[in-house]
Amino acid sequence: MTETPVRDRPARERTGRSVGRPIDRVDGPAKTTGTARFSAEYPYPDIAYAALVHATITRGRITGIGAEEALAVPGVLAVITHTNAPPMKPPPPVSVLNLSSLASGSKVNYLNTDEVHWSGQPVAVVVAETQEAAAQAAGLVRVTYQESPATVDFAGEQGNATPQKSNPLQQGEGHKGDAEAALAAAPVSVDLRYTTPPHHHNAMEPHATTAAWDGDRLTVHDGTQNIGWLRTALAQRFGVPAEGVRVIAPFVGGAFGGKTMVWAGTVLTVLAARVTGRAVRMTLTREGVYRTVGGRTPSAQRVALGAGADGRLTALIHTSVTQVGRVGGSPEQVTSQSRHLYDAAAILVQQRIVELDMLSNTVMRAPGESIGTFALEAAVDELACELGMDPIELRMRNEPERNPIDGKRFSHRMLREAYALGAERFGWADRTAPPGSMRDGRWLVGMGVASAYHPSWEMAANVTVRMSADGTVLVRCGFHEMGMGGATAQGQIAADALGVPFEAVRVEYGDSDLPTGPGAGGSAQTASVAASLTKACEKLRRSLLALARRSAGSPLRGARPGEVEARDGGLHRAGHPGSGESYAAILTRAGRPFAEAAVGSDTRAGTVAGQVRFMSKFLMDRRRWMKAACGAQFCEVRVDQDTGEVRVSRWVGAFDVGRVINAKTAASQLRGGIVMGIGMALSEETLVDPRNGRIMNPSLAEYHVPVHADIPPIDVCYLDEPDPTMPLGLVGIGEVGITGAAAAVANAVHHATGRRVRDLPITLDKLL
Ligand code: MOS
Repeated sequence: MTETPVRDRPARERTGRSVGRPIDRVDGPAKTTGTARFSAEYPYPDIAYAALVHATITRGRITGIGAEEALAVPGVLAVITHTNAPPMKPPPPVSVLNLSSLASGSKVNYLNTDEVHWSGQPVAVVVAETQEAAAQAAGLVRVTYQESPATVDFAGEQGNATPQKSNPLQQGEGHKGDAEAALAAAPVSVDLRYTTPPHHHNAMEPHATTAAWDGDRLTVHDGTQNIGWLRTALAQRFGVPAEGVRVIAPFVGGAFGGKTMVWAGTVLTVLAARVTGRAVRMTLTREGVYRTVGGRTPSAQRVALGAGADGRLTALIHTSVTQVGRVGGSPEQVTSQSRHLYDAAAILVQQRIVELDMLSNTVMRAPGESIGTFALEAAVDELACELGMDPIELRMRNEPERNPIDGKRFSHRMLREAYALGAERFGWADRTAPPGSMRDGRWLVGMGVASAYHPSWEMAANVTVRMSADGTVLVRCGFHEMGMGGATAQGQIAADALGVPFEAVRVEYGDSDLPTGPGAGGSAQTASVAASLTKACEKLRRSLLALARRSAGSPLRGARPGEVEARDGGLHRAGHPGSGESYAAILTRAGRPFAEAAVGSDTRAGTVAGQVRFMSKFLMDRRRWMKAACGAQFCEVRVDQDTGEVRVSRWVGAFDVGRVINAKTAASQLRGGIVMGIGMALSEETLVDPRNGRIMNPSLAEYHVPVHADIPPIDVCYLDEPDPTMPLGLVGIGEVGITGAAAAVANAVHHATGRRVRDLPITLDKLL
């Protein structure tokens, strides 16, 4: 993949020297030289290794467990089952008032029950002196079961779907006018069914945990996306104070949502350490991840669109059926984007779910919008064909001025500009409209577009900033680095806020001993930390100025905050060069080794209160504005005229993502999302045996993620216009890249071949 330069715009409202620059990730060298330590790499003297035994039935009860053979394997220390495991507290009921209650991947109290709820549920843990002995012995544990009937066939259960409950964060139902009547009366319409299969995250680093108890104090190394939730959850499950639980996760080898919740492997490693009195490590196999960590739900969707001959939408209907586990799961907001993208006269969105005897599904990169935009944006393309209209023109005719259902204002929306920018870079004008009309030798060439859309969020974050007398800055916040460049971006923000070089700033993250940060999710981490960080820097500047003002020897004596700016490593009277002094001089004269400012509270009680305050502010804000990132995806495919092989040959993604903090990491996030969207379009599919719900392809050999040879150069560009309502004007970029991507591929495939594939993935058999 080549590195294509992002669009270079003159920096507006940008006085600093670090924000916006394509600075290399500060964690990069440690990762590329192998010195970065991941959760399975922390050395402990006397460490033991654990392996899981998975249920081989779908639903029922364990009637017997034979551990003798396993215990006879040399080096085996324990076989922990429901017959000998110490009690743990069950996961708390899920409530939006207690956000960490959302952390439990499932309701199952592992090894504290004889019940089996899915094929692959852990039913025993083997602990041994070596990884090999644990794995060998796990295969020798004999479990007998009494089976019960189970419901596992998503396709067969759709008639029994029930409405998905709404909560303040997720709205399942919505309508404006009578969309069905408007559809029936529309001069031009489409009424289509789309299906998407289950998907799995397949982070490069499989889930791993190292746990060590010291009395009631617990240290856990776990590749989590939410150390705060994990700490709270482990304290609750094991009945110990949260203050004594330390979660350390400075490096996370990809996650995509799969490491947001607390899954069995983590809990059972901590349990195994409790039982054996040893430090214990569990490294899940790739299959182990599939059996114990939820993936993305499958979906069945209906999109119906009605329009006048002028292309103005008179009706937009989008309904979805998705799956959750009977023991938990995250209902996907599949119709989310359909509430915001088009100004249709009548709209109906509806989400339904089926509960199956399978492992809970969970969030996966743009849960809802990634598969929802596939159906919506493919249907818009089909309507454009019915109308004989250019698909970009159709979208622009229906671009809303306000949020379509409730009339809320958009905080900021530049989808038109994104399409204009993308079309120019892609060369959309060269496209000839009729399907099959563009060829290159044996290849049928197709060009497709689709809109990208993802709401933007902000979460609570506690941050401290310290200025030392040597002029260096330390930012501390328990956020997460999954590979997106979070620490680099926050370092850039602090450098500009304090007027110091980027190299003078160090950022500590990934440790629950730090001030509690937000989870890495919802594309919200960077904005959330930035909001508190800029406040903390402002506080720090004021207290440093206060120190200088009081000092007879300071050129800043008597200066008011409004007159002073942070630059050149110190505080200076605005517009007067040489009228101030360095932070080092201020601190040294005052005899202080450092000055520090904190935003938020470090105590657990304070964090809960802070979350409630934050939530109320968030909900008030949500009433006023609709906030989102959006974009235009342009895809060119080549389809072999004989074999149906699809190759993506060119890509342009033009995004409206507010202000960009780091041009390099931002482009990588967007590009990574597009790669995942291409996988979703062409190859990714978790295969489930409809008889027993067992995942049949739990490996990278059989679940096909794109490889480098599948991905063309991806030209990512963005508008870099700050959102006026978000911290520093930035909106999230982690997820919007995947949205619309699969539709752009499907639309390009149709343009190349005349074939509409409405069932992902678009494998070659569907084109023959
Ligand atoms: Mo995510 S699915 O917000 O990691």
